[in-house]
Amino acid sequence: METGINRPQKHQGSGAPLTGAQVGDANPPSGERMNEPVQQAQSASPAEQVGGADPRKNLKPDAQTKIDIQHLNFFYGSKQALTDVSLPIREHQVTALIGPSGCGKSTFLRTLNRMNDLIPNTRTEGEAIFEGENIYSKSTDVVLLRQRIGMVFQRPNPFPKSIFDNIAYGLRIQHTSGKQLHEIVEQSLVDAALWDEVKDRLNTSALGLSGGQQQRLCIARALAVKPDVLLMDEPASALDPIATLKIEELITELSANYTIVIVTHNMQQAARVSQYTGFFLSREEYKGRLIEYGPTVEIFEHSKRKETEDYVSGRFG
Ligand SMILES: Nc1ncnc2c1ncn2[C@@H]1O[C@H](COP(=O)(O)OP(=O)(O)OP(=O)(O)O)[C@@H](O)[C@H]1O
Ligand SMILES: [Mg+2]
Repeated sequence: METGINRPQKHQGSGAPLTGAQVGDANPPSGERMNEPVQQAQSASPAEQVGGADPRKNLKPDAQTKIDIQHLNFFYGSKQALTDVSLPIREHQVTALIGPSGCGKSTFLRTLNRMNDLIPNTRTEGEAIFEGENIYSKSTDVVLLRQRIGMVFQRPNPFPKSIFDNIAYGLRIQHTSGKQLHEIVEQSLVDAALWDEVKDRLNTSALGLSGGQQQRLCIARALAVKPDVLLMDEPASALDPIATLKIEELITELSANYTIVIVTHNMQQAARVSQYTGFFLSREEYKGRLIEYGPTVEIFEHSKRKETEDYVSGRFG
């Protein structure tokens, strides 16, 4: 049977256009880590506490579930890093994962495209259903899975190749060539809001780009193989505030066509870019549990758990 992760990739021209817009009201990011910035007076409204951003923006309450994670446990050797995590990743929405250092956010993100498989002596239990198929099934084609569910890391990691070859890399593996290759490279750079800055230097080294440009290049590289889902692990934490804002605007634009999961320590950023938020904690008794999940506005303004409220208001981290 041809299912999501077994379906061959087909390129269909340049892909759907991005909607743009809906990013104009983002406040300049602070670039601060989560537990530093939210020091406003207790009387400030939660919306003000998250920088005046409105997490209701772009919320689609009826968005379909793109990945349905059920009872996920994850182990590094005998050490349990995730315990009984269940949540839906909603289609064409941005889901933010927040929580203190070491609570399992990156581990969770990597379970979604089986990047943890690359770490020896690890074990995953539970299910993550992506287009009708369990990501953790033995029959899953992990190469295809990672094309469909792409990843962008905290530190930009361009290959020591030209800008063009960075984007073309995965396409050539898929045997795309000629005019189509050039078209997809250009469209990926356009979609990653980088084309205008690099169109005259496509054959120069990607390592000559600024950090923010390198990160958008990595996003373009991920987009080139036409993923459905983009996983982003603190994609702006190594960037200055202007480059951070560009990445945030880009995430908002991309969410019209892609499902995005972002890990962030920056509460303002979570509020600016995400429609849904999951809060993780790891303590002796918890071991990487999802404490609360819901629409971002609920998590920030009406959290059901005291731990969540304390965390999003900066009382602990
Ligand atoms: N390769 C590994 N081998 C063993 N333990 C690991 C490995 N990677 C992470 N861990 C442990 O798993 C737990 C979760 O780590 P993870 O990196 O997922 O946390 P995180 O929430 O992303 O933290 P941070 O906010 O600091 O990035 C931590 O206790 C960490 O030490
Ligand atoms: Mg991490």
